Amino acid sequence: MSGFAGRDILSIRDLSRADIQLVLRTARKMVPIATGEKRSRSLDGKILSTLFYEPSTRTRLSFESAMARLGGRVVGFSGAEGTSVQKGETLADTIRMAEAYSDAIVLRHPHEGAARLAAEFTDKPVINAGDGAGQHPTQTLLDLYTIWDEKGSFEGQSVALVGDLKYGRTVHSLTYALAELGSQLIFVSPPTLEMPREILEHMKSEGLSFRVAHRLEDVIREVDVLYVTRIQKERFPDPQEYEEVAGSYRIDAGVLRDAKRELIIMHPLPRTTEIAPDVDRTKHAVYFKQAFNGVPVRMALLDLILGGGE
Ligand code: NCD
Repeated sequence: MSGFAGRDILSIRDLSRADIQLVLRTARKMVPIATGEKRSRSLDGKILSTLFYEPSTRTRLSFESAMARLGGRVVGFSGAEGTSVQKGETLADTIRMAEAYSDAIVLRHPHEGAARLAAEFTDKPVINAGDGAGQHPTQTLLDLYTIWDEKGSFEGQSVALVGDLKYGRTVHSLTYALAELGSQLIFVSPPTLEMPREILEHMKSEGLSFRVAHRLEDVIREVDVLYVTRIQKERFPDPQEYEEVAGSYRIDAGVLRDAKRELIIMHPLPRTTEIAPDVDRTKHAVYFKQAFNGVPVRMALLDLILGGGE
């Protein structure tokens, strides 16, 4: 038994190093099923609820694809319009309904802490697919898979997290995991969008080393992984504040002139203007592959939680 059966995935911090390694190894075995080359029915008869109160393309579709590739089914909604949320139904009651209709619940919600709260209303496993500016643990698992697949290890890799480190939930989760796995982190953001203080405090108290920079040019030569993020426009209380930082970073051929040959560029997507389209053709770009990796990684996680895999 792996200990995953029936478990909630609320924060990446709930997973030990051994848990993460198990997910990554299981994901690798899932790749031929994710591409359709091999078939599996390991989640035959299982139903997953996907409750998306916020927009999503990759996360929702890759969960659906993962479930379908393993022979399971999905019920759910994308946007609360058209559901009883519009009539004033509480999160607690909606979760109770998802519990009645399915075996596990994937939740994306604009409020930080929503997934943890939801888990209190049900005994069925809850998977956090993004809670406001909080956490996005399954994104981190696919990000880790991508680094492991491309680089072979985490230890000693210099990873620059670039963009909106204040509101970006992907980088919050990823920071905890990569620091724990021995990568060297560089936080590159405008001064107003730095990593939240509690995460920096955590790093310091655990003795984990990191650096803070504001200019990409100052660090591009030394990094192995560039993890670029979108400025999270929807989280700014004041549109004026967003305008001041919009377009702060743009990765293009000019910026990459000084980069290592083996540099990989990642992005959780969607991108707006932060990566120029001509970067897509370079060997550095792995963000579309990264998005595909969401399928085998979510298959692995679902199989471990619902199928009692390993
Ligand atoms: C991210 C998210 O929703 O946090 N997208 C994703 O899940 N791949 C990143 C973003 O919206 O910028």
